Amino acid sequence: MRDILRFTVYDLLLFVALIVFEHRIKGLRNMKRSPLTHEIVFNDEDFAQKYAKDHQKMTEKFGHEYAQKLTSRGFLQGRIIDFGCGAGGTALVLAETFPDCEVVGINLSEPLLRIAEGSDQADKLGERVKFEKADVQQIPYQDNSFEVVINLNMVHLVEDPIRMLNEMERILKPDGFLFIADLRRSWLGIIEKEIKSSLTLSEARELFKQSRLRQGVFSSSFLWWRFELGD
Ligand SMILES: C[S@@+](CC[C@H](N)C(=O)[O-])C[C@H]1O[C@@H](n2cnc3c(N)ncnc32)[C@H](O)[C@@H]1O
Repeated sequence: MRDILRFTVYDLLLFVALIVFEHRIKGLRNMKRSPLTHEIVFNDEDFAQKYAKDHQKMTEKFGHEYAQKLTSRGFLQGRIIDFGCGAGGTALVLAETFPDCEVVGINLSEPLLRIAEGSDQADKLGERVKFEKADVQQIPYQDNSFEVVINLNMVHLVEDPIRMLNEMERILKPDGFLFIADLRRSWLGIIEKEIKSSLTLSEARELFKQSRLRQGVFSSSFLWWRFELGD
């Protein structure tokens, strides 16, 4: 009798543990979006310096990836804009790869613009590369004026992402290329807070539907969701 009782107690404990485990997994999968842990515009000098240093490799890697995609799609010449260019890593790689292109990086953060403008690469590239203080929600350029638009790590952060997407649609030429990538919210948010404040792929899709941006291709990987236009 005692053995049977022990068996049922173990079963019960196992059952409770499984329910708790399943609940945890569900909780991680449906992780609630948390607010940003830093300011929207990187105006703090120390924060901007650290951001630039920590993200240089990543932004350059995206630059090489997009350069490769553009090359394979036959792109050679035109105007490229990086919406929210950070310290300029992606814009600079693209400018180096495409010597007949004019490249503009915009940001509202003065410390990051200073880092981008003051880099050796920007110095070598000269007039072809410009870093300007401007709002991604209100771009100071004419309609249909860019062949390529880049936007990295911005959608989850900017105040009005739909306005930003509409601005991309406005300034991108009809047959232009657009590359957007942002962190994807997942259980990794328990390790990295920035991920917890980002969007899931379906939230991103929903947001894009509300904008005027033309239809493109969504994809997602372990860390990122992406959106691409142009072939
Ligand atoms: C997460 S960082 C991404 C920077 C860069 N694209 C990268 O991947 O490293 C976001 C950047 O957007 C800038 N930012 C935020 N709101 C902005 C706005 N409305 N207009 C222009 N830049 C903005 C911030 O100053 C910051 O540099």
